[in-house]
Amino acid sequence: MKKIIIAIDGPAGSGKSTTAKIAAERLGYVYIDTGAMYRAVTLAWLRAKKELTEDILCKMLDGIHIELKPSENGQRTILNGEDVSDEIRTIEVTKNVSPVSAIGCVREKLVEMQRELGKNGAVVMDGRDIGTIVFPNAELKIFLIASAETRAQRRTLELKNKGIEESIEEIKKQIIERDRYDSSREISPLRKAYDAIEIDTSNLTIEGQVEKVVELALEKINLQ
Ligand code: DC
Repeated sequence: MKKIIIAIDGPAGSGKSTTAKIAAERLGYVYIDTGAMYRAVTLAWLRAKKELTEDILCKMLDGIHIELKPSENGQRTILNGEDVSDEIRTIEVTKNVSPVSAIGCVREKLVEMQRELGKNGAVVMDGRDIGTIVFPNAELKIFLIASAETRAQRRTLELKNKGIEESIEEIKKQIIERDRYDSSREISPLRKAYDAIEIDTSNLTIEGQVEKVVELALEKINLQ
Protein backbone atom coordinates (compact mmCIF):
# COMPACT_ATOMS: atom_id res chain seq x y z
CA MET A 1 0.00 0.00 0.00
CA LYS A 2 1.27 3.50 -0.89
CA LYS A 3 2.59 5.35 2.15
CA ILE A 4 1.07 8.82 2.20
CA ILE A 5 1.13 11.57 4.83
CA ILE A 6 -2.23 12.40 6.41
CA ALA A 7 -2.33 15.75 8.23
CA ILE A 8 -5.18 16.33 10.66
CA ASP A 9 -5.45 19.82 12.12
CA GLY A 10 -8.09 21.65 14.09
CA PRO A 11 -8.86 23.33 17.42
CA ALA A 12 -8.82 21.65 20.86
CA GLY A 13 -11.51 19.02 21.29
CA SER A 14 -12.48 18.81 17.61
CA GLY A 15 -11.86 15.05 17.67
CA LYS A 16 -8.41 15.06 16.09
CA SER A 17 -6.58 12.63 18.32
CA THR A 18 -9.35 10.03 18.61
CA THR A 19 -9.98 10.12 14.87
CA ALA A 20 -6.30 10.13 13.92
CA LYS A 21 -5.48 7.25 16.27
CA ILE A 22 -8.21 4.90 15.02
CA ALA A 23 -7.76 5.89 11.37
CA ALA A 24 -4.02 5.12 11.66
CA GLU A 25 -4.79 1.69 13.15
CA ARG A 26 -7.18 0.84 10.32
CA LEU A 27 -4.69 1.94 7.66
CA GLY A 28 -1.72 0.25 9.34
CA TYR A 29 -0.10 3.69 9.67
CA VAL A 30 1.74 5.28 12.61
CA TYR A 31 -0.17 7.86 14.64
CA ILE A 32 1.78 10.94 15.75
CA ASP A 33 0.22 13.32 18.27
CA THR A 34 2.25 16.53 17.95
CA GLY A 35 0.31 18.29 20.72
CA ALA A 36 1.90 15.78 23.15
CA MET A 37 5.34 17.14 22.16
CA TYR A 38 4.35 20.74 23.00
CA ARG A 39 2.82 19.45 26.23
CA ALA A 40 6.08 17.63 27.14
CA VAL A 41 8.10 20.85 26.69
CA THR A 42 5.51 22.67 28.82
CA LEU A 43 5.83 20.05 31.57
CA ALA A 44 9.63 20.36 31.53
CA TRP A 45 9.29 24.14 31.88
CA LEU A 46 6.73 23.86 34.72
CA ARG A 47 8.98 21.45 36.60
CA ALA A 48 11.91 23.84 36.26
CA LYS A 49 9.82 26.55 38.02
CA LYS A 50 11.24 29.30 35.85
CA GLU A 51 9.75 32.39 34.28
CA LEU A 52 8.21 32.06 30.84
CA THR A 53 10.52 34.00 28.57
CA GLU A 54 11.83 33.12 25.12
CA ASP A 55 15.39 33.28 26.40
CA ILE A 56 14.79 30.83 29.26
CA LEU A 57 12.82 28.39 27.10
CA CYS A 58 15.40 28.39 24.31
CA LYS A 59 18.22 27.69 26.79
CA MET A 60 16.24 24.82 28.34
CA LEU A 61 15.57 23.12 25.00
CA ASP A 62 18.96 21.39 24.71
CA GLY A 63 18.20 19.47 27.90
CA ILE A 64 14.74 18.39 26.75
CA HIS A 65 14.64 15.03 24.93
CA ILE A 66 11.30 13.82 23.72
CA GLU A 67 10.54 10.41 22.28
CA LEU A 68 7.21 9.16 21.00
CA LYS A 69 6.67 5.42 21.39
CA PRO A 70 3.78 3.62 19.75
CA SER A 71 1.95 1.35 22.22
CA GLU A 72 -1.23 -0.73 22.26
CA ASN A 73 -3.31 2.15 23.55
CA GLY A 74 -1.84 4.84 21.35
CA GLN A 75 1.30 6.87 21.59
CA ARG A 76 3.38 7.11 24.78
CA THR A 77 5.30 10.31 25.38
CA ILE A 78 8.75 10.02 26.94
CA LEU A 79 10.49 13.07 28.41
CA ASN A 80 14.17 12.56 29.23
CA GLY A 81 13.58 8.83 29.64
CA GLU A 82 10.43 9.18 31.79
CA ASP A 83 6.96 8.20 30.57
CA VAL A 84 4.93 11.40 31.06
CA SER A 85 1.91 10.38 28.94
CA ASP A 86 -0.54 10.98 31.81
CA GLU A 87 1.14 13.98 33.37
CA ILE A 88 1.06 16.00 30.15
CA ARG A 89 -2.77 15.87 30.24
CA THR A 90 -3.16 17.68 33.58
CA ILE A 91 -5.05 20.96 33.74
CA GLU A 92 -1.86 22.79 34.71
CA VAL A 93 -0.08 21.68 31.53
CA THR A 94 -3.18 22.39 29.42
CA LYS A 95 -3.41 25.92 30.82
CA ASN A 96 0.22 26.71 29.99
CA VAL A 97 0.79 24.90 26.70
CA SER A 98 -0.45 27.65 24.36
CA PRO A 99 2.06 30.34 25.41
CA VAL A 100 4.90 27.78 25.45
CA SER A 101 3.99 26.55 21.95
CA ALA A 102 3.98 30.12 20.61
CA ILE A 103 7.75 30.48 21.21
CA GLY A 104 9.83 30.35 18.02
CA CYS A 105 12.68 28.06 19.11
CA VAL A 106 10.21 25.57 20.60
CA ARG A 107 8.34 25.37 17.30
CA GLU A 108 11.57 25.09 15.28
CA LYS A 109 12.82 22.15 17.32
CA LEU A 110 9.52 20.28 17.36
CA VAL A 111 8.70 20.91 13.68
CA GLU A 112 12.11 19.49 12.75
CA MET A 113 11.41 16.36 14.84
CA GLN A 114 7.96 16.00 13.30
CA ARG A 115 9.35 16.23 9.75
CA GLU A 116 11.89 13.56 10.60
CA LEU A 117 9.23 11.29 12.10
CA GLY A 118 6.96 11.62 9.07
CA LYS A 119 9.49 11.71 6.26
CA ASN A 120 8.86 8.14 5.09
CA GLY A 121 5.08 8.53 5.01
CA ALA A 122 2.53 6.03 6.35
CA VAL A 123 1.71 8.46 9.14
CA VAL A 124 -1.36 10.19 10.48
CA MET A 125 -0.11 13.30 12.24
CA ASP A 126 -2.40 15.57 14.23
CA GLY A 127 -1.81 19.13 15.42
CA ARG A 128 -2.46 22.75 14.49
CA ASP A 129 0.04 23.43 11.69
CA ILE A 130 0.67 20.03 10.10
CA GLY A 131 -1.00 20.83 6.78
CA THR A 132 0.29 24.42 6.65
CA ILE A 133 3.87 24.25 7.98
CA VAL A 134 5.11 20.78 8.92
CA PHE A 135 3.97 18.98 5.75
CA PRO A 136 2.56 21.52 3.29
CA ASN A 137 2.81 18.79 0.61
CA ALA A 138 0.90 16.15 2.61
CA GLU A 139 -1.22 14.08 0.23
CA LEU A 140 -4.29 14.37 2.46
CA LYS A 141 -5.16 17.29 4.73
CA ILE A 142 -8.15 17.27 7.01
CA PHE A 143 -9.32 20.20 9.12
CA LEU A 144 -11.69 19.16 11.90
CA ILE A 145 -14.01 21.63 13.56
CA ALA A 146 -16.82 21.40 16.14
CA SER A 147 -18.83 23.89 18.19
CA ALA A 148 -17.20 25.12 21.43
CA GLU A 149 -20.12 23.54 23.34
CA THR A 150 -19.51 20.09 21.83
CA ARG A 151 -15.77 20.35 22.34
CA ALA A 152 -16.20 21.34 25.99
CA GLN A 153 -18.57 18.40 26.55
CA ARG A 154 -16.04 15.99 25.05
CA ARG A 155 -13.13 17.32 27.10
CA THR A 156 -15.14 17.29 30.35
CA LEU A 157 -16.06 13.64 29.77
CA GLU A 158 -12.49 12.75 28.83
CA LEU A 159 -11.20 14.29 32.08
CA LYS A 160 -13.99 12.65 34.12
CA ASN A 161 -12.94 9.25 32.75
CA LYS A 162 -9.48 9.99 34.09
CA GLY A 163 -10.91 10.88 37.51
CA ILE A 164 -10.54 14.66 37.06
CA GLU A 165 -13.65 16.70 37.87
CA GLU A 166 -13.92 20.10 36.20
CA SER A 167 -17.05 22.07 35.31
CA ILE A 168 -18.09 22.26 31.67
CA GLU A 169 -18.20 26.09 31.89
CA GLU A 170 -14.57 26.22 33.05
CA ILE A 171 -13.46 23.81 30.30
CA LYS A 172 -15.39 25.82 27.68
CA LYS A 173 -13.69 29.01 28.87
CA GLN A 174 -10.26 27.35 28.62
CA ILE A 175 -11.02 25.98 25.15
CA ILE A 176 -12.10 29.37 23.82
CA GLU A 177 -9.04 31.00 25.35
CA ARG A 178 -6.72 28.35 23.84
CA ASP A 179 -8.39 28.73 20.40
CA ARG A 180 -7.85 32.46 20.57
CA TYR A 181 -4.22 32.07 21.57
CA ASP A 182 -3.41 29.31 19.05
CA SER A 183 -5.12 31.17 16.17
CA SER A 184 -3.64 34.58 16.82
CA ARG A 185 0.00 33.73 17.55
CA GLU A 186 2.57 35.12 15.13
CA ILE A 187 4.35 31.89 14.20
CA SER A 188 2.35 29.13 12.49
CA PRO A 189 -1.06 30.00 13.87
CA LEU A 190 -3.89 27.49 13.79
CA ARG A 191 -5.55 27.83 10.41
CA LYS A 192 -6.99 25.67 7.71
CA ALA A 193 -4.66 24.97 4.77
CA TYR A 194 -6.24 26.16 1.51
CA ASP A 195 -6.32 22.57 0.23
CA ALA A 196 -7.58 20.93 3.44
CA ILE A 197 -10.94 19.20 3.61
CA GLU A 198 -13.04 20.60 6.44
CA ILE A 199 -15.18 18.20 8.47
CA ASP A 200 -17.55 19.45 11.16
CA THR A 201 -17.66 16.73 13.81
CA SER A 202 -20.32 18.38 16.05
CA ASN A 203 -22.97 15.90 14.97
CA LEU A 204 -20.77 12.98 14.01
CA THR A 205 -20.00 9.88 16.05
CA ILE A 206 -16.37 8.79 16.42
CA GLU A 207 -17.08 5.96 13.98
CA GLY A 208 -18.57 8.48 11.52
CA GLN A 209 -15.46 10.71 11.71
CA VAL A 210 -13.10 7.77 11.32
CA GLU A 211 -15.03 6.38 8.36
CA LYS A 212 -14.83 9.69 6.51
CA VAL A 213 -11.09 10.03 7.08
CA VAL A 214 -10.34 6.42 6.13
CA GLU A 215 -12.48 6.72 3.00
CA LEU A 216 -10.64 9.89 1.92
CA ALA A 217 -7.30 8.29 2.72
CA LEU A 218 -8.04 5.15 0.68
CA GLU A 219 -9.11 7.32 -2.27
CA LYS A 220 -5.75 9.14 -2.13
CA ILE A 221 -3.76 5.94 -1.56
CA ASN A 222 -5.39 4.24 -4.54
CA LEU A 223 -4.65 7.25 -6.72
CA GLN A 224 -0.92 7.13 -5.98
O1 DC B 1 -3.74 18.93 20.62
P1 DC B 1 -3.40 19.38 22.05
O2 DC B 1 -4.57 19.98 22.77
O3 DC B 1 -2.76 18.30 22.85
O4 DC B 1 -2.32 20.52 21.85
C1 DC B 1 -1.78 21.23 22.93
C2 DC B 1 -1.30 22.60 22.49
O5 DC B 1 -0.13 22.48 21.70
C3 DC B 1 -2.27 23.45 21.68
O6 DC B 1 -3.01 24.31 22.50
C4 DC B 1 -1.40 24.22 20.74
C5 DC B 1 -0.11 23.45 20.67
N1 DC B 1 0.11 22.77 19.39
C6 DC B 1 0.69 23.51 18.39
O7 DC B 1 0.90 24.69 18.56
N2 DC B 1 1.01 22.91 17.23
C7 DC B 1 0.77 21.61 17.02
N3 DC B 1 1.12 21.04 15.86
C8 DC B 1 0.15 20.84 18.03
C9 DC B 1 -0.18 21.46 19.21
